[in-house]
Amino acid sequence: MSILDSSEAGASQDRQTCDDLDATLRHYTKDLGYAVDEVFPADAPRIVVISRDGHSIRLEQALTGTTRGNRDTDGASFVRQADTGSWNIGRAGMQYRDLIPDRLGGRVIASHIRIPDGGPVPDYVHYHHVQFQMIYCAKGWVRVVYEDQGPSFVMHAGDCVLQPPMIRHRVLECSDGLEVIEIGSPAEHRTLADRSTGLPTRSIDRDRQFGGQRFVFHESAAADWHAGPAPGFEFRDTGIEEATAGVGSAIVMRASNPGEQLAISGDDGFQFHMLLCGSALLATDQGENWKLSTSDSFAIPPGIRAVLEPDDDALEVLRVALADLPAKAPTVVA
Ligand SMILES: [Fe+2]
Repeated sequence: MSILDSSEAGASQDRQTCDDLDATLRHYTKDLGYAVDEVFPADAPRIVVISRDGHSIRLEQALTGTTRGNRDTDGASFVRQADTGSWNIGRAGMQYRDLIPDRLGGRVIASHIRIPDGGPVPDYVHYHHVQFQMIYCAKGWVRVVYEDQGPSFVMHAGDCVLQPPMIRHRVLECSDGLEVIEIGSPAEHRTLADRSTGLPTRSIDRDRQFGGQRFVFHESAAADWHAGPAPGFEFRDTGIEEATAGVGSAIVMRASNPGEQLAISGDDGFQFHMLLCGSALLATDQGENWKLSTSDSFAIPPGIRAVLEPDDDALEVLRVALADLPAKAPTVVA
């Protein structure tokens, strides 16, 4: 399916190939008054659809050697991503770091997103065609607003949201040094503007189902810690598993006893781990050993087992599991 086939796209649409998509987009929006209708993909845009007075233009980044598509991999490689300082400029000026470079063949994306300079965020009401999407606030704070969920609210470090499929939302403002972790499936999905919906909506319906999922705002300050998922550890549950009817889950784990190890099997399905703070040692049954620190992340492929051993008292690890990744990512753009 091409985004040109979209029923949301206007009837008349021109196409323009750009050597510098960012600069061209700035010209159309700032100088000529065009508005953004669609961005694809959000983390490293290569197609942006804009319109003004019923006239629509599809801007396409000229192909270069670095243009990334859904690479056809089996996801069997061990994934460990340290913060190497490699950041892309994505939608609405946000900086993105890809945490799963091969994206398991396009089935899942994990992004470390940051906004260094706080203040109003140049976002607009939009929505995503996703099967799963959550955002965890790792540093700073961000004010957001969601369809049918009441007034805008602030996510602080440790808080997270589950964004059900197609829910309209907007990022309003943030602190200096905001950092969030976003996990979504499939990796490349459509992001569409909605200029007919104002937020907040007048109606509030916190039990509303969007594509079989309910919105979740998990506040760490109010969360209870429970023993598990292994002896010597405790965790807080974000409520995402229940709200998505098992499509995905997200917990934050920390050690309650020094010296305990957390066993992780790649045969338990896709599990993404990110160190939110502290450090740890990761050893696989293939003889690989890693010293991990804050903002490092990893996923263990099928057939491999590993143990994670806390290296200090501060360790906190976000674990996001997805139950049924599509066998192969849907092709969104030919
Ligand atoms: Fe969004």
